[in-house]
Amino acid sequence: MNIFLIFTSTRAVIKAEECLRANDVDCQVVPVPKDISPECGMALSLADQLRERAVSLLAELGIEVQVHQPAGSRAPLFDLLTTVEQGGCSAKLPPDVLFDALGRLPVHTDPNLLVGIATGDDAGVYRLTDELALIETTDFFPPICSDPYDFGQIAAANALSDVYAMGGKVLTAMNLVMFPATGIPFEVLHEIVRGGQEKVAEAGGLLVGGHTIADYPPKYGLAVTGIVHPERLINNANAEPGQVLILTKPIGTGALVAGQRLGQASAADYQGALDSMKQLNRQPAEVMQEFRVRAATDITGFGLLGHALNIAKASGVAMEIDAAKIPALPGALELLEKGCIPGASYRNLSHVESSADFAPGLAYTLKMLTLDPQTSGGILLCAPADTADALLAELRRRGCPAAAVIGRTTPLGHKHLVVR
Ligand code: CO
Ligand code: CO
Repeated sequence: MNIFLIFTSTRAVIKAEECLRANDVDCQVVPVPKDISPECGMALSLADQLRERAVSLLAELGIEVQVHQPAGSRAPLFDLLTTVEQGGCSAKLPPDVLFDALGRLPVHTDPNLLVGIATGDDAGVYRLTDELALIETTDFFPPICSDPYDFGQIAAANALSDVYAMGGKVLTAMNLVMFPATGIPFEVLHEIVRGGQEKVAEAGGLLVGGHTIADYPPKYGLAVTGIVHPERLINNANAEPGQVLILTKPIGTGALVAGQRLGQASAADYQGALDSMKQLNRQPAEVMQEFRVRAATDITGFGLLGHALNIAKASGVAMEIDAAKIPALPGALELLEKGCIPGASYRNLSHVESSADFAPGLAYTLKMLTLDPQTSGGILLCAPADTADALLAELRRRGCPAAAVIGRTTPLGHKHLVVR
C-alpha cells in the first residue's frame, strides 16, 4: 500500500526526492491524487512502511510535508501482496502435473481408511470406531491479500473448509508457517497467526500447535483434524444421476484478486471478495447433514469445473451446468470481461477440456467464470431432487444468501461435464 507526500512547491518535491533517495528511501514523483486540491501538482509516492523514516528525514531538512493516505484503504502493517506473483489457491501446482506425480504412487488400502488419495477428495478419512471417523486435511499458500490479519483469516477458513466439505466438525488445528527471518516485521507474523487462530475459534476448534520455518515469500495455512460419523460421511464418490447441483458461495475471487492487482477492481467489490473468502463453510456443512446430503466438495484452486469434475469422475456420473445460473461475486463478470483473468484459469481449462463439452453459444466471460480459481470458495453439493428447494431455502437463511441451483447430475454419457 502506497501513501503520498504532499508539498507546498515543486522545488520542495525535487529536494525531498533527492534527500530520500540519498538515504535509500524508495520513492517516486507522481501527479497529486485526484481527491485532494494541492498547492503543488506533484507528490511523492512511497510504501506506507517507509512513512515514518521519510517524514523524519524531511523534518531534519526543514521541508514542510503533509502525508496523504488514499481514501478507502486501511493501510496494512506491510503489504503482503508485494511478496508474490500468485497468491492463495492460484499458487497450486497445475492439476495435471500433480495427478501425474501422485498417481504413480502405490495405493495403500485398509478397511478403516474410508477416503484415501485415490478419489482426489478434500480430506483423508479414517474410521476409529463404528461411530467415529477422523478427518485429516491441510492447506497453506502464499498471500492472497495485502493485510496480514485478513490473510490469516482467509488461509484458515480455506484450510478448515475441507473438513466441512466432508460433512465434518472441526476439532483441532495446527499452524503451518513459512516466514522470512529478515525483511518483514515480525508483527506481520503475529497478525497472520492471530487472524488464523480467531478463525479456528469461530469454527469451534482449538489451535494446538504448529511448525515454522524461515522462507520467502511467506506462506500460511493449517493442518486440521475433524470428526464425522462414518455413515454420515460426505465425499466425492457418492453422487447419483438425477440430483440437483447447489453452489453455496458466489464465484469470482480469482478475477477480483487479479483485478485488484491491476487496479481495476472497485474497493467495494474487492472487499466483497475478501469477506466471501473469510466466510467459513460451517453452516453449509451443518445444513448438508440435516438434509442427508452424501456428495459434495469445496471449490478452490481448480475452479468450479475442476472440482465438479472430481465428483463426476469419482461417482461415475455426468454433470450439466447452467453457466448463467452460477452466482458471481459483484464485479467479477465485468473484470473477466476486461481481461482480469488469472493464469490458473487457463491451467484449469486445459485440465477439464477433454472431459467437458462447452455449448458453442456460451459467453466467454461465463466460461472463464466456471474456471476461475477460487480461494476459500463455497461448497458444491449434490442434493436429491425432492429436498433441493427446502435445502436451498435453509442455506439462504443460514448465511449463504447467494446459494443457487446451478445444474444437475445425469447418467454418464459422452463427457463428464456439459456446460451451457
Ligand atoms: Co477441498
Ligand atoms: Co485441500
